[in-house]
Amino acid sequence: MEAYLLDWASLLLRWLHVIAGIVWIGASFYFVALDNSLDPPNPPKKGVLGENWSIHGGGFYHKQKYVVAPDRLPERLHWFKWEAYWTWISGFALFVVAYYLHAETMLVDRAVLDIAPSTAVLASLGLIVAAWLVYDGLCRSPLGRHDGWLALVGFVLIALAAWGCAQLFGGRGAYLQVGVMVGTIMVANVAMVIIPGQKKMVAAMSAGEVPDPKYGRWGKQRSVHNNYVTLPVVFIMLSGHYPMTYGHPQAWAVLVAVFLIGGVVRHYFNRRNAGQTIAWLPAAAAAMVVVLAALIVPRAPEGSAGRTATIADVQQVIALRCQSCHAAAPTQPGFVQPPGGIMLDTPERIAQFAQKIHQQTVLAKVMPPGNLTGITDDERAIIAAWYRDAAPGRGRGGS
Ligand code: HEC
Repeated sequence: MEAYLLDWASLLLRWLHVIAGIVWIGASFYFVALDNSLDPPNPPKKGVLGENWSIHGGGFYHKQKYVVAPDRLPERLHWFKWEAYWTWISGFALFVVAYYLHAETMLVDRAVLDIAPSTAVLASLGLIVAAWLVYDGLCRSPLGRHDGWLALVGFVLIALAAWGCAQLFGGRGAYLQVGVMVGTIMVANVAMVIIPGQKKMVAAMSAGEVPDPKYGRWGKQRSVHNNYVTLPVVFIMLSGHYPMTYGHPQAWAVLVAVFLIGGVVRHYFNRRNAGQTIAWLPAAAAAMVVVLAALIVPRAPEGSAGRTATIADVQQVIALRCQSCHAAAPTQPGFVQPPGGIMLDTPERIAQFAQKIHQQTVLAKVMPPGNLTGITDDERAIIAAWYRDAAPGRGRGGS
């Protein structure tokens, strides 16, 4: 019953997280695009930086951005913050339900580092806080006044985080950890810098003073940072479906490449919104994707060469290493149903899922999760040899 309720918590949180994320990213992309597409007002207007005319949903819109602020506060001012806060609240709760409560399979991988699940959770929490403190400190330091250098240092730090998490956690957990660290920075930018700055500006105006433009500058800088990491963070949130990425021996480097590719794609769109089409940017991003895909082609393990294996051999391995979860009634604590709806309890079903079994166990090595049931390289080689020689459907989508 408890596992069933947790499944519902997971479903509802995931649903909410995706919805809040769409609303937040949508608004945030819209405002960055609006900013980039501003034209000087015609005729020129005092205090107005730029304007934008648009048509959407059958209506004409006219937006203008002020150099700092209008002369007086409007009666109704729309704020954008709860979409960001709810994205984090739902996302972090989902991280707890899906990863912290199953830390022994979702975070810990004993082949990477043999730590207790509680240690893994503490390390994860500590890293999330540390990520924000380091990033925020850098933005406030003298480096924060040089956007290009700050971007470079930020990129190196992301690479360091990806590498470091890969030394602590299993592949999938390491990816999510990096995603939660960067996602938390994004929301903290809203909660700790952008919104407080806007509140100070509004308070100054209410007091009849001219607001300090530095708050606008600071907020804009953080908002642009958020814009550039959005695509890689969304990639991470979807990466659980693709073990070829997080399951690769150099998964952290794959993630660094994804940050680069996502940043390049974002830059292309940002420049395009400003009326400048840099055609080589998407071409470079596409080329990087092709090179990445070619570099991470999974390879069959050496031990399978020259060996033969029958379905009976495979059945033995699966009974030992997989069936505690992948059975009609799993015996693994925390599982009430076969995960992914996949039962591996008869030769027919094993044959039916041959390609997936091979992909998950031999190529990406992500099953059993965190190698909880202690499968050996030799047993993986048995599955590899069987798949190569005898499994139905071999060669379709495998290696
Ligand atoms: C501790 C429990 C556990 C064990 C043991 C385990 N699995 Fe899984 N398996 C899971 C979970 C959880 C998922 C669902 C993952 C997800 O949500 O993406 C899964 C998913 C799968 C999938 C589906 C992946 C997809 O693309 O949909 C396959 C195939 C699979 N496991 C095969 C195996 C094989 C083969 C073994 C033994 C070598 C094994 N599993 C051992 C928990 C387990």
